[in-house]
Amino acid sequence: MGLVAKCDSKNKAQGVAGLTGKDADRMTFKVPTLRNVEMTYPYFHDGEADSLEKAVDIMGKLQVGRTHTPDEIAKIVAFHQRHTETETLRLIGYASIPLSEVPA
Ligand code: HEM
Repeated sequence: MGLVAKCDSKNKAQGVAGLTGKDADRMTFKVPTLRNVEMTYPYFHDGEADSLEKAVDIMGKLQVGRTHTPDEIAKIVAFHQRHTETETLRLIGYASIPLSEVPA
């Protein structure tokens, strides 16, 4: 976390370095699955991003070195939302999604 720009998290977690004690592992975190990411807020190990838009913006800045435009963020968020398994989530009672909105 913070591949191209420093991650200024208020959280004390240091990632894998917490286990290995190695500097090289500082701020190294598992990349979470992005399946159903629309439903799994807040985001990051520290819960720092309370919206998907904020998470995508932070990822652009810290991991890609790019400040995405609001339009680009909206498009990336829409891409993520397309991977929400509405039917599965409904079946497991995760989200009360009206049947009318479950894709055929
Ligand atoms: C525009 C490109 C990217 C997008 C849209 C993106 C999206 C996301 C999102 C939404 C999360 C939060 C997932 C969650 O907390 O459930 C996340 C976390 C993460 N991503 Fe990315 N990501 C991008 C690029 C990258 C790159 C290039 C890397 C590294 C090579 C990366 C590494 C990570 C890591 C390590 C986390 C977990 C961070 C933590 O727990 O603090 N991401 N990403």
